[in-house]
Amino acid sequence: MTDRSVERVALLFAMHAEADPIADRLGLGVPQPLRNGLPAMLRQGRCGAVEIHLCTHGVDPEHGVDRIGTETATLVAWLLAERCRPDLLVNAGTCGGFAVRGGEIGRTYLAGEAFLYHDHHVPIPGFDAFGTARIPARRFEPVRALLELERGPVSSGAALTTNDVERAFFEREGVVAKDMEATAIAAVARDLDLPFLALKTVTDLVDHPEPSQDAFQRNLAASTARLTDRLERLIRHLGEGRTLAELGA
Ligand code: ADE
Repeated sequence: MTDRSVERVALLFAMHAEADPIADRLGLGVPQPLRNGLPAMLRQGRCGAVEIHLCTHGVDPEHGVDRIGTETATLVAWLLAERCRPDLLVNAGTCGGFAVRGGEIGRTYLAGEAFLYHDHHVPIPGFDAFGTARIPARRFEPVRALLELERGPVSSGAALTTNDVERAFFEREGVVAKDMEATAIAAVARDLDLPFLALKTVTDLVDHPEPSQDAFQRNLAASTARLTDRLERLIRHLGEGRTLAELGA
């Protein structure tokens, strides 16, 4: 833990639909490219004591959809950290939840215990553990309490859908949130020794018979509204002037 003040916060979102409501609510500036040649877009502004640097992965020019996923998350997290030098990096977005562990649509989780990959299968000693990542999550207990969040392991992978091997993994590890970015960003944050927290709101239940894509599309706006409320509370709290120690980083 450190008593450094949080003066610059970087918020990283995969999708515009997840990011735009909080960016608008905070009155951030117009989107600018994070780096020439990449679709990632940066909106900047201030909330009290903190500078806000909000970045989205951007829209893929060939396919016309958000560039979701771990590949872009890694690249954009590095560039965002390098450009904005944040004291705190936040990944916010939506996730698949698990009814068996109390998950429900609209519930927001603070990533806890560890960030995992559920689809990096390399059954060779050493590489298997490397594939799973298991990056420890900082506790951020005061943040969890302030925002009234549940906490648990987050696991990232390349797909919205899942399969039986991954389902067994989720059970073994007690995963509460399945997403497509957090672990990639956690790896960047670990390499840069940058305090990192992830907030994930459930749009669909991985252990429900309805296909994830159907529930995801139906619930995206409503779950994002829940996420936005939590994020606004977090940012206004930071805007009052906080140290990393006060956040439990
Ligand atoms: N984001 C929202 N729902 C998801 C799911 N089921 N899997 C991965 N990422 C998600």
